[in-house]
Amino acid sequence: MQHTLKHAPYERHVHFRRGNMTKAVAPYTARQCWGGVIMPNTAPHILTPEDAVEYRDFIISITGKNFTPFMVGYLTAVTSPEEVKRGYKAGLWSAMKVYPRAAGGHGTTNAEDGINMLELANHPALPIMQEIGMPLLIHPEVNVDKNGVETDEFDREKLCVAVLRNLRRRFKRLKISAEHGTSVELAKFMERYGDPETMVCTVTTQHLMHDRNDLLRGGFQPHLRCYPIMKRRESRDAWRALTTSGAPFVGAGTDSAPHPTHAKERARGCAGGVFTAHAMVPLYTQVFDEMNSLEYLDNFLGVNGLSFLGLEPKLAEIVLTKQPWTMDKMIPVAHGDKVRPYGFHEDPDERFQFQWSIDSISCDQ
Ligand code: DOR
Ligand code: ZN
Repeated sequence: MQHTLKHAPYERHVHFRRGNMTKAVAPYTARQCWGGVIMPNTAPHILTPEDAVEYRDFIISITGKNFTPFMVGYLTAVTSPEEVKRGYKAGLWSAMKVYPRAAGGHGTTNAEDGINMLELANHPALPIMQEIGMPLLIHPEVNVDKNGVETDEFDREKLCVAVLRNLRRRFKRLKISAEHGTSVELAKFMERYGDPETMVCTVTTQHLMHDRNDLLRGGFQPHLRCYPIMKRRESRDAWRALTTSGAPFVGAGTDSAPHPTHAKERARGCAGGVFTAHAMVPLYTQVFDEMNSLEYLDNFLGVNGLSFLGLEPKLAEIVLTKQPWTMDKMIPVAHGDKVRPYGFHEDPDERFQFQWSIDSISCDQ
């Protein structure tokens, strides 16, 4: 069985990190996608337009010019509106990302400079972003309540729906993207308020494939630990239904987040993130196939959300074949560090069977 895509896939949410890690992981995305939204929670963060340009040039030096990084600034409590606008007008960065501030400091990877979500609507950059049409990408979780008390992790996204509703009311034309949706509550919000130009969302492969039982099956599974945390089956199914319904405001953002194994596989604590970049197109295809909705896959991968970002979709011919494969190696980084890609296991019998492979790609330049 084959399926053909008419548009080149676009990655709406990916983590490339810096240095040797970027070198190790960026080619996996560039092989499947013509461009991608590059998250700014690097160490150090992308705080100025000049940081974004330097990072963009570094990424292109690895991927080559056939991959176009979409650069994003890290919005902190002290980011000035003038700086946001200057970078946007000069084409140095194209969107801002906001991370939630947490009680103990750890909202998600490198989120220590995030913002208290309950105060986001008062950030002085928002009116200007609305005016100039610059997208705000939101990690939609409320980590601390109004009394400063830590919230329950499984409720954090649900609590952020009220924040999104309030933003929608106060800034009617602000371009908002709710990243990596996981909960039934956010899925319902998107069904009601989703709009291809002003209110979009992304969804990861792991949140379409797994629920929290998988995260805890046989003990805690560090390689499925990501932020937001996996929810109930009911939530996973709500996102599977919304994603494969053809809704034009839901797009592919893997949130592929590489961490070296020593940060994931350890006795105490575990870095949050799942590395899925190597199998982005096969995994989304598998979900759409399981849901008998392959007719909507092309738009999901290569069209939805692009006009929101101010981009034109790119025509291509990509032939996918239903032919199972497994990932048979770890990804070497440098100095002995390795990333464990989704689906790999030392025991070949334990490896995940990816159902679809990419047969050929030809893309208009
Ligand atoms: O699981 C995650 N990993 N969620 C995020 O929000 C950040 C990401 C990372 O950078 O590791
Ligand atoms: Zn992310």
